[in-house]
Amino acid sequence: MLIDLRSDTVTKPTHGMLEAMMSAKVGDDVFKEDPTVNALEERLANMFGKSKALFFPSGSMANQTAIKLHTNPGDQVICDKYAHIYNYEAGGASFNSGVSCKLIDGHLGMFTARQVKDAINPDAYYYSETRLVEVENTTNKGGGACWDFNELKNIKKVCDEHHLGYHLDGARLWNALVAKNETTQQYGELFDTISVCLSKGLGCPVGSVLIGDEEIMEKSIRLRKVFGGNMRQVGYLAAAGLYALDHNIERLNEDHKRAKEIEEVLRKLPFIKTVEPVETNIVIFELDKTIDESAFVQLLKEKNIHIIGMGGGKLRIVTHLDYTNVMHDYFLSTLKTLIV
Ligand SMILES: Cc1ncc(COP(=O)(O)O)c(C=O)c1O
Repeated sequence: MLIDLRSDTVTKPTHGMLEAMMSAKVGDDVFKEDPTVNALEERLANMFGKSKALFFPSGSMANQTAIKLHTNPGDQVICDKYAHIYNYEAGGASFNSGVSCKLIDGHLGMFTARQVKDAINPDAYYYSETRLVEVENTTNKGGGACWDFNELKNIKKVCDEHHLGYHLDGARLWNALVAKNETTQQYGELFDTISVCLSKGLGCPVGSVLIGDEEIMEKSIRLRKVFGGNMRQVGYLAAAGLYALDHNIERLNEDHKRAKEIEEVLRKLPFIKTVEPVETNIVIFELDKTIDESAFVQLLKEKNIHIIGMGGGKLRIVTHLDYTNVMHDYFLSTLKTLIV
């Protein structure tokens, strides 16, 4: 039994999902003739109360397209120092859109409206023009933390006052919705563009969707083409997405519960220095200084448990659809009896 807790992207499609994929009706999506892709896009646009949605092969491409939609070369994007668009999209914001990022020193990947206000460049010709505020919910590097919706509203006010775009990297928005009892509609009302992933907590093999109103999304299909992301009979993958929306959202609570139980065990272990507060399915922790990080990862690997380092001495555990009760019991008892 291999227990892979490196990410919630390691899941394989379930039998039900595979059946949905195999029976999908497909067509050439470059001609917009794939009925399953069209159905998925329409469904997500409706869920968020927006007029348009576009299917992408990855979350990075959906985010990069959003940045390009909102900005011109030389502009500046405000985001947290932990943001995925800044840390883990291979410098795409500067490569694809020619923009720089003004990093906010937030808490667990989140910041306040006051901090946004302070980060906006003055209106003078020698500053780059601030164009976009980007937030991530839940935060990946921040340990799956969920934003306070009121603060997101406060930031929206600042965006409106300064004519800034507002983009949500909602790769794991599903986890936040379930954990905080919030709705897609609420988020649709607040943000100009939203990217959501189907291939993380929802268990699809591939797929992200960018959602927004027609006006801002007008060039999105052209940009997806420029980025090399147009696809043909991709309804087979969109069918997995539709299946996931029906079956795999509410069950995220189970992943959250298990992550919380892991947090509780970790907190009691003498060789753990800190554990970030767990709200959803990600557990980030630091080992005592005396313990070598890679040796610790290797020790767990020898017991068939895979976790991953985040850099800077932090380690990450992510619970997901393929992490079963049996695995959970084994993992917890292994942790409790671990000799490092
Ligand atoms: C918060 C966040 N945004 C975006 C992405 C990018 O998704 P993809 O790997 O599909 O490009 C990830 C992937 O882990 C992520 O965690």
